[in-house]
Amino acid sequence: MAKSKVLLVLYQGGEHAKQQPKLLGTIENELGLRKYIESHGYELVTTTEKEPAPSSKFDHELADAEIVITTPFFPAYLTRERIAKAKNLKIAITAGVGSDHVDLDAANERGIAVLEVTGSNVQSVAEHAMMTILTLVRNFVPAHDMAVQGKWDIAGVAKQEYDLEGKVVATVGAGRIGYRILERMIAFNPKKLLYFDYQELPPAAIQKLNDASALFNGVDNIVERVEKLEDMVSQADIVTINCPLHDSSKGLFNKELISKMKPGAYLVNTARGAICVEQDVADAVNSGHLGGYGGDVWYPQPPPKNHPWITMRNPYGGGNAMTPHVSGTSLDAQERYSKGVENILEEYFNKTYNYRPQDVIVINGDYATKAYGQR
Ligand code: NAI
Repeated sequence: MAKSKVLLVLYQGGEHAKQQPKLLGTIENELGLRKYIESHGYELVTTTEKEPAPSSKFDHELADAEIVITTPFFPAYLTRERIAKAKNLKIAITAGVGSDHVDLDAANERGIAVLEVTGSNVQSVAEHAMMTILTLVRNFVPAHDMAVQGKWDIAGVAKQEYDLEGKVVATVGAGRIGYRILERMIAFNPKKLLYFDYQELPPAAIQKLNDASALFNGVDNIVERVEKLEDMVSQADIVTINCPLHDSSKGLFNKELISKMKPGAYLVNTARGAICVEQDVADAVNSGHLGGYGGDVWYPQPPPKNHPWITMRNPYGGGNAMTPHVSGTSLDAQERYSKGVENILEEYFNKTYNYRPQDVIVINGDYATKAYGQR
């Protein structure tokens, strides 16, 4: 009898995987799970070929796979069409956070469980968002380019270089990542911290931020919840997006909402590319209405060569702080999400199904939380 199959989709490591064995998220290192998976009598098939046309190895292997594991960094999109063809599929595991690459309604109709490793890289993303904010506000990229080209034109950089201190910083979503950004912001002595979220932060979480601000900066009541997103973005010098991608956040930052942002404000998105309308963002940066845009998430991933976020620049020649999707895949994060996948597999293989509740996105044909993405 053929063994049941685990299908693992990861990005290519090549020379880098040889150089750095801690790169667990590469196809070469297989999340460090081959022995573990095989010891449970499963066959492990790995691939980097995930694009559907004309037909990829992923599509071929998916036909009889029982378990699919993929990452948000190099996602194999589990569309309705693909799910329909995956007759044996029981569980889809995201090695990381954010399972929007899976058609969750289609998974529910088939009773396929979708789990992710919640919290595994939230500190990594919060740090990346802080770095991106500083990169934009301090106009780092043009300054660095100048330095390594051996040029010295101080005014050319300083004409759009500001301090983070004294600015209004706003987050869309104040969950694990959004809250960590607010925490880290206190060190920079902001004027105000704003958040927009369906859920109110617990009083203790607000108190912690207010106490830290009072202690370090002598500023009371630093945090404020704003009921309407438009009202928040119109007050902010910097907006950072930290909510999940779902039906009501897809295309949220479009021309209309961006037009409500302060002229010269910065937008940072380490959540998901499709939360922003790509051309509307690029137009706003190119025109200078936005001082800049940065983040590490795109749609699709990898993006096509003509994606407008590759070439957009503000009229000063800067304002682009894009990276590939690397924020949540630091070596520390890779260790955490690999271990988290093993923990999920352990419950599945043992048929105990005693998953960590926060890891479960959909199960037994239903959403684990009433609104996906809520804590
Ligand atoms: P979380 O579930 O702890 O927090 C999300 C928060 O967003 C919740 O408080 C929820 O109520 C709120 N929310 C949901 N929809 C909203 C909306 N339309 N407007 C405002 N708030 C809304 O999630 P966590 O861990 O903070 O991650 C957030 C997102 O960041 C993930 O869903 C994922 O898409 C992305 N992410 C990106 C990573 C990367 O490598 N770039 C890695 C990890 C997560």
